[in-house]
Parts: sequence; structure tokens; C-alpha cells
Amino acid sequence: PVLVVDFGAQYAQLIARRVREANVYSEIVPSTMSVERIQAKNPAAIVLSGGPSSVYADGAPQVDPKLFDLGVPVLGICYGFQAMAVALGGDVAKTGLREYGGTRVDVVGDGGLASSTLLQGTPQEQSVWMSHGDAVHAAPAGFTVIAESSGSPVAAFEDDERAFYGVQWHPEVKHTAFGQQVLTNFLYHGAKLPPAWTMGNVIEEQVAKVREQVGSGRVICALSGGVDSAVAAALVQRAVGDQLTCVFVDHGLLRAGEAEQVERDFVAATGVKLKVVDAVDRFLGALEGVSDPEEKRKIIGREFIRVFEAAAREVVEEAAEHGEGEPVRFLVQGTLYPDVVESGGGEGAANIKSHHNVGGLPDDLQFELVEPLRTLFKDEVRAVGAELGLPEEIVQRQPFPGPGLGIRIVGAVTQDRLETLRAADAIAREELTAAGLDREIWQCPVVLLADVRSVGVQGDGRTYGHPIVLRPVSSEDAMTADWTRLPYDVLARISTRITNEVAEVNRVVLDVTSKPPGTIEWE
Ligand code: XMP
Repeated sequence: PVLVVDFGAQYAQLIARRVREANVYSEIVPSTMSVERIQAKNPAAIVLSGGPSSVYADGAPQVDPKLFDLGVPVLGICYGFQAMAVALGGDVAKTGLREYGGTRVDVVGDGGLASSTLLQGTPQEQSVWMSHGDAVHAAPAGFTVIAESSGSPVAAFEDDERAFYGVQWHPEVKHTAFGQQVLTNFLYHGAKLPPAWTMGNVIEEQVAKVREQVGSGRVICALSGGVDSAVAAALVQRAVGDQLTCVFVDHGLLRAGEAEQVERDFVAATGVKLKVVDAVDRFLGALEGVSDPEEKRKIIGREFIRVFEAAAREVVEEAAEHGEGEPVRFLVQGTLYPDVVESGGGEGAANIKSHHNVGGLPDDLQFELVEPLRTLFKDEVRAVGAELGLPEEIVQRQPFPGPGLGIRIVGAVTQDRLETLRAADAIAREELTAAGLDREIWQCPVVLLADVRSVGVQGDGRTYGHPIVLRPVSSEDAMTADWTRLPYDVLARISTRITNEVAEVNRVVLDVTSKPPGTIEWE
């Protein structure tokens, strides 16, 4: 793989994604990983990511100079560029000045375009995204300076002999005009790597891996209706066919049409063996009278585990009755690469995030995990799903929380309230899709304020109904988000239709809060 050394800023995942967009496989490793362990991973190339603002700051991570003796091509980016310069004997000046945001850089030398490996095919003068304090003032021996900016006398350098390259700016962000070109120049021309990482190869590789892990064993998988579990299940089905049984727990908290999507469309597309558990009454019973959000989340999570465990037991028993002696030993989970990185990844990465997933099962459940998406980013999962022939509505589905509509009713959950919310949500989704806005918005929770009433007038009469909140957000990763500026005419259509068509609702309001301080969901 190409190893992206993570110096702790937000950029490592983005770099890894961009490398993969160039069809080269990449993995993220922490900057604390020893050179020996990096070598053991047999890297095809190494990218040093951005990081803290100054290589001279207390406790700032350094690059072990031994890294440059491995004979592996290296690209330093921003902080990684400076750390590389320091490690190889260049001069990084404490300027006290900051270059931040869109910045002009000039390619150095009149033959600049043609003669530079890293910047070939990019213009003499270009706009890049900068974010740094110190600046490289002298390149280490053996390097040629290939670009400069007003704040960075050495804005990029290269040493073709050793295949070492560096840029002060961030080629991985969209604000850098020729960023992807610079990355592919490094990968294809500097490191001379072939663009061999394709979704077709990913499927082949994972299918082989699943077969090897599972053998003739039996496998189960909980389908949520979401992209990840659907693609994971489809992959495992491709690998081991009927050794896989999928379980779909219908908790009654899904949106209109979603249960059918799983029960009908997903099965039709994959031929998967599906067991549907109707647990609607059970969930509604457990949720009766509960309005505290955390309490609701806990109940839904707990009930899900119980129902799923019971279903798993049934699958085991049914298998035994049919004389299919193999016990169910494996559980499929749609764990993605960002989850692996963010929860430590077995590599000691820095930030730990706790996941609130309704599919999260207790440790004592006796299954070995099958995680065929563990190396993939979300966009790659969608591409794999499409390649496996899953319907567009499943593959392109926007995020939807595990606890479903249960946390989109502010107040206690009842069947009537669910029906009201489902009707309003279906209208909002329909209009957003019709307006072609699905790709632009990250997701648009529709929330029913069941504990709030307001006065309205409809026809000749006074109404006293509930408000519906629209929460359209734009986001890259759901960690931060901004409210989406939807066109007024679309908002108007949604509002008119909801108040006309959904009996209990007499008001539609728009949530104009970014995250932070608001979260995307209301509960
Ligand atoms: P918040 O509300 O925390 O949501 O800003 C961030 C993203 O996570 C989704 N979400 C969940 N997903 N189980 C999930 O699988 C959950 O319990 C859960 N809660 C929130 C939310 O829809 C948004 O995309």
C-alpha cells in the first residue's frame, strides 16, 4: 500500500481517499509508528500528511530520518513537507507569519512545467490552499526547488534520484486547483505505481478473503436498510451464497417504503436468503410513554440486540433441523475504514470516537466478525454496491440513524405519530428528489415536534396541531455540518404539501443551525 503517515490533523483521511481516487490503494498509519513497523508493511510509497502548525512547537511529531533510508518514494505535504526538510538537513525558518487559505504559487524555472516530475501538466502560476506558519527557506542537499510563493521561498521541491517530493500546500483539498494532478504525478511518475486499485479488484479480493475466513461455516448478517450492511451482505452472498442468512428486524421505525426496499428490492438484486422479524409491537411497547432521547436510544438498542439474538438462534436451530451440521459461527458487519481509523485501527491512532450504532452487538455474543468493507471509504462502498448490482435507491441512500424515526419524534413514540411523521417525511423526500437536490444535501431529517402544539387556521376552522421541522444539512463527514440553503420554491412546495396532506400538522419550520452547535439529529 501507499502509507499515509497521520500527523494528527484532519487531512490524512482526505489524502488516503484522493490516493485511492487515483486507483492506488492507501492506508493510514499514525506518526508514532516506528520505521521498522512501517517497513514491515512493505509500503509502495509514503505520504507525510499535514499536521500542527510548527515543527518547532513543543511535542510536535518528528520524522525519523531512517524513514528516508528505506528506498521508498516519499511525498511530504504541508507539515510533512517541513518535517521532511528538517529531517534531511534543510532549513525551516520560524517566520512567525502565516499563510492561510487560497494562495498563489509560481512554478520555478522557465522549463518548470516540462522538467518537474511533480508539477508536470500544471500551469506556471496556480492557486493552492495553504495553512502553515513556518516556511522552508533552503531545500536539503540533492533537492531542486520547483515552486515558490510570497510566504514560502521553497513552496515545493523534488529529488528524482531518490524519488522524494514535497509541497507546502494541500494538494488533497478541492480548493487547490491542480491538487489531484500533483498527487497522481507523485504516484504514477514519482513512485511509478500502476493504477491497479479498482472496485472490480476489490470485490474479487474480498470475495476470496471471505471464502478463506468462512470456509464451509454459516454466516448471519443484520440488515438495517442502510448502504453499509446491504453492500457487506451482498459481498458475502457473492462469496458464500446460501451459507449466509440475512436477518431484517422490522422495528417499525423506518421511513415509508424502506422495509419493502429491503424485503423486495434487495432480495431481488442479490438472491440473498432473508429472515424478516416483525418486531413492531415489541418496540412500540418498550418505547411506550418514553420521551427522553437517551432513554429511547437505549431501549431501541437493547431491544434490537434481543430480537436479533433470538432470530440468530432460530437460524441455528433451523439449520440443525435440516441436517446442515455447520453451526452459525460468523457475523457480517459493515464496518468502514474511517471507523477503523477513528477507533484506533489496531495501529494506535490518536482520536477515539464512540459509535452509536444500533447494529452494535455485545462482546459476549459468540460470533467471529466478517468485515468485508473494513478497508473501504463510503464512496468506495457505494461503488462496490453498484458493481454488485444493488439498486440505486439503496446504494445512494443518505445516512439514516439506526434508531430511526424513534429519535425524530420529539416526545413519546406512538403508532399514530409515526404515521404522521412518515407521511411528512415521504413528501419532503419526494420533493427534494424531484428538485434534483439529493446529491447536494447530506441528509434532511424531518422531525415531528409531538409535544408542541400551535394554533392555525384551515378552511374556516381553527386548528391546534403539531409542527414539522425540516433539517436539511450539507456535510463532508457528519462531524460538522451547515444547514443547506434550499431554494425557496422547493421549501414552499414541501410546506404546502405537508400542511395540506398530513392531518395533524399545521406548521412547517426550517432549522437553520449549523453543527456545532446543533447536532444533525434533534435527539
Ligand atoms: P448527529 O445527530 O450526532 O448525527 O449530528 C451525525 C450523523 O450520525 C447519524 N446518527 C446515527 N447513526 N446510529 C446511527 O447509525 C445512531 O444512533 C445515530 N445517531 C445519529 C445522523 O443521522 C447523522 O448522519
